[in-house]
Order: sequence, then structure tokens, then C-alpha cells
Amino acid sequence: MTDRILILDFGSQVTQLIARRVRETGVYCEIHPYTIADERIISFAPRAVILSGGPASTTAALSPRAPDIVFRLGVPVLGICYGVQTMCAQLGGRVTLCDHHEFGRAVIDVLDDCPLFDGLWPKGSHAPVWMSHGDRIDALPPGFRAVAASDAAPLAAIADDARRFYGVVFHPEVAHTPQGGALLRNFTHRVAGCRGDWTMAAFRAQATARIRDQVGHGPGGGRVVCGLSGGVDSAVAASLIHEAIGDRLTCIFVDTGLLREGEADEVVRLFRGHHNIALVHRDTGALFLAKLAGVTDPEEKRKIIGATFIDVFEEEAHKIGGVEFLAQGTLYPDVIESVSATGGPSVTIKSHHNVGGLPARMKLKLVEPLRELFKDEVRELGRELGLPAQFVERHPFPGPGLAIRIPGAVTAEKLAILRRADAIFLDEIRKAGLYNDIWQAFAVLLPVKSVGVMGDARSYDFVCALRAVTSTDGMTADYYPFPHDILGRAATRIINEVRGINRVVYDITSKPPGTIEWE
Ligand code: XMP
Repeated sequence: MTDRILILDFGSQVTQLIARRVRETGVYCEIHPYTIADERIISFAPRAVILSGGPASTTAALSPRAPDIVFRLGVPVLGICYGVQTMCAQLGGRVTLCDHHEFGRAVIDVLDDCPLFDGLWPKGSHAPVWMSHGDRIDALPPGFRAVAASDAAPLAAIADDARRFYGVVFHPEVAHTPQGGALLRNFTHRVAGCRGDWTMAAFRAQATARIRDQVGHGPGGGRVVCGLSGGVDSAVAASLIHEAIGDRLTCIFVDTGLLREGEADEVVRLFRGHHNIALVHRDTGALFLAKLAGVTDPEEKRKIIGATFIDVFEEEAHKIGGVEFLAQGTLYPDVIESVSATGGPSVTIKSHHNVGGLPARMKLKLVEPLRELFKDEVRELGRELGLPAQFVERHPFPGPGLAIRIPGAVTAEKLAILRRADAIFLDEIRKAGLYNDIWQAFAVLLPVKSVGVMGDARSYDFVCALRAVTSTDGMTADYYPFPHDILGRAATRIINEVRGINRVVYDITSKPPGTIEWE
């Protein structure tokens, strides 16, 4: 059985990063809330447990506690930030509320050798780390020794080698702790003895076997439909399922006419041509345009696009007949049961999930082979399955497509103008070698005309806004600081080559307070 590490989440903003770093060490792990039932912990059979950080204070009454069973399993435990504090409090140490909080960059002094520091930080050395903690460990639990200290935290890292319990008050999972990944590797490999055999090749083999088990083997097995969106997730899911069950998979590509330049052709070429996957291509651009005619409200656009998509998809799935399963490219971040810091409901800023109602309405069972993967792992799996690098590395693209990049009413003319401008912007970014440094880059066609002068004549055309952001998860983002010459080249080309645009602006809003898309 694959080695597995259990990460118990106490609500830190960066718990997912722990999982990503652990997986980068070649070890499979899952995140579960700290409230997980003992039986589930036992059946998970972890090789080690990691306790995440979190916003609570162990000094408060009723603060979250790790299930006691974690300390009785006989497996290594690593506490990070809140995780080490609760470990101390639960195992007989003392944590006190501290008025001097330590946030941000700090340096730790390595007091003693420790398996976590092997090959990284010898005794007597100093190491840069990222701190984010309020409380202070004052007294060690029995069996522990101090292995590192910082100015504000005399017990910044602690160890009990006999029980293999370790704790750090800093965050090894964030990029600001430069050797944090190596520290986690020491934990998973040296301390926990994991083999590091979680690779995409191994996942591919396991996942195809699981798909066959779920939908049935051989010609008598069930039929699966998968909606291709032009994006990475659905493409990788489809390739994987095709590998598992061959022509019992049919892909349905509802071509909304709202994709970027050349994308629809590429999907058809890649899947029908290259991968030889049964593909139904419905060109429904005119239908979507008719439904969207005169609609200006962003949420209304999303609703119409979502509902129309479902109608067409359902129609095509019925034509195929005998379909029992629906494949979806659901990823791990959508699956994690999150521990909410506030516990309150959140406000819907944008309703993203366009096809959410589909499985229930069609009474189909879901096949979600990517449920355990992060986006970067899906990309790696895509490469493993032989999808072209340019396709796999593609920026995220919203389901409602270009319709939400045309504030105001969407028309065929505006779509054509936007598509061209967007393609030129991306071309310049690719030529400058910046595509993979950027999370998302695109053009927006504003519903504003401005006066210009072209040649000797007056022009009165649309304004195009360019947007490019960096982000790790789309939740927060910052604008990309382009060198001016690249922006200048893109703007000049757009104005010269795209009839209908005579002015280009660059959007320098971060998220928050802005959002990535304009609608
Ligand atoms: P915002 O604009 O909310 O976008 O900052 C965050 C990420 O989500 C994408 N996005 C969508 N994706 N349907 C989608 O499938 C939508 O309606 C939608 N709206 C925004 C956006 O492109 C970015 O990656």
C-alpha cells in the first residue's frame, strides 16, 4: 500500500501548502479537519501525522485539540505552529499567551542536532524561517528537548526522538522558509520512513485501475460521458478515463463560441485526431449568442450560459444512450472539508460552478479521477499522459468564457474583436518567455469608445483593457509588473492589427479589492 500521511487541519490559511510540499517529497497525503473521527484515522493508517497551524489560541477555553489517538498510534507526529502548541498543551507542557507576536521573517538559532534538520542546519547554525504565531511554549512536555530558538520563541523547535514527535513554531510549508521543503522531506523520509514512491506514473496506474473498478471491466461495463471545456482539468480527466475504458468513454464538447482564438479547433484536433477519443462536437455559438442577446448583468450571463450548457449537454448525452456515468475534472481543493476560521456563511461574489446541477438532473453517477490532485499535479499527469506541454500549461479560463470579458451586452462583432486582441496579447507574452510566470493573462473589451487619430483621420473605437496577474490559487492575486516595452508592443500591435480598438489600458488592480475577471 502507498505510504500515506494524514494532515489534520486547524484552519490555517496555508494548510494546503503543507499537503503540496509533502506530495513534492513523493508521499501521498490527505487533509482532514481536526474533528475527524478516530475510526477514520485508524482506517486511513497513516505513516505519520502532521498537525497544521490555525488561528486559535491553546490558552483559550474550548480551543481545538488534536484527537488523543494521534499520540497513541505509534507513528511520528509533526506539529506546525498551532499544531505544536496544542501538542505541547496536550502532552503536559505549558503554552502561554504572549503579548509579543512574531509574524514574518525571522532567524532561528539551531541549538541541537535533530533528524528534521539533517543535512540542512547543523547545531550552532542560523536559519531563515517564516513565523506567524502569537502564543509561546513555556515548558516542554516530558520527553522533549529544545532544538531551535528564535528571539521571541525560546522553544521554536522541539523534539522527542523516542516517540518521534517533533514540532516547529515556524511554517516550513511556505516559500519564505527557504529550506522548509527539505525539512518536510526529512520528516516524511528520515523520520517516518516513507519510500517517496508517489509519482504521477504510479498515480496513473492506480487511477486507471480504480476507474475500471468503478465503471466495470470489459465491453459489458458502463458508459461514461465527459464534457470537454477546452481547459486542462477536463482534458486530463478524459485522457485518463479513455486510457482506462477506451471507447466506452464519449466526450461531449459544447462549443459555446465563447472560447479563445483557435481553442475549439485545437480541442477537436487533439481529442478526435491525436488521441482518437470519441468526441461529439456541438457548435452552439449562435444559440449562446441568441440567449445572451441584450443581457448585461454578469450573474445573469453566468446563469444563462450554465443553463444553456446543461440543456445542450443533456441532449447530446441522451443521443448517445445508455450512459450511466458522468466524468468531472473535480480537483482536490474543491474536495477538502475546510475548517472555517469564522464559521459563518460567506457571501457569493461570483457563482462559478456552471455545471453543478448536471449530475443530479441526469441521474448519473460521478467519475472524478482527479479528486485527489492539486492543479500542478494535474498538469504533471497531463504530461505523463502525453498531452502537449502548451495545452497542459494553459492559464485557467472561466467557464462562461469571453462573455464575462465583455462588460455589457455580448455580440458576435465584439467577440471577434476581443478574440484577436487577446491572441495578440498572449502571443507577446509567450514571445517574451513570460507565460509560465503569469497565473492568468487576457484582454477585456470595454463598453466604452474613445477618440483617437489614426493616420490623418479621426477614429472612434473601443477601449481594450489588458489584465495579467500572479497568484497561487486565484483567491488572491497581484497585477503582473510587465517591462514597459512588452506592454507597449502588445498595445501597438492590438491597435494596428485589430479593427475596432483604438486605445489600450493596463489594469493594475490587485485582488482583493478587485477580482481577476472584470465581471
Ligand atoms: P475572480 O474573477 O473571482 O476569479 O477573481 C477567480 C478565478 O476564477 C475564474 N472564474 C470563473 N471560473 N466560472 C469559472 O469556471 C466562472 O463563472 C468564473 N468567474 C471567474 C477566474 O478566471 C479566475 O481564475
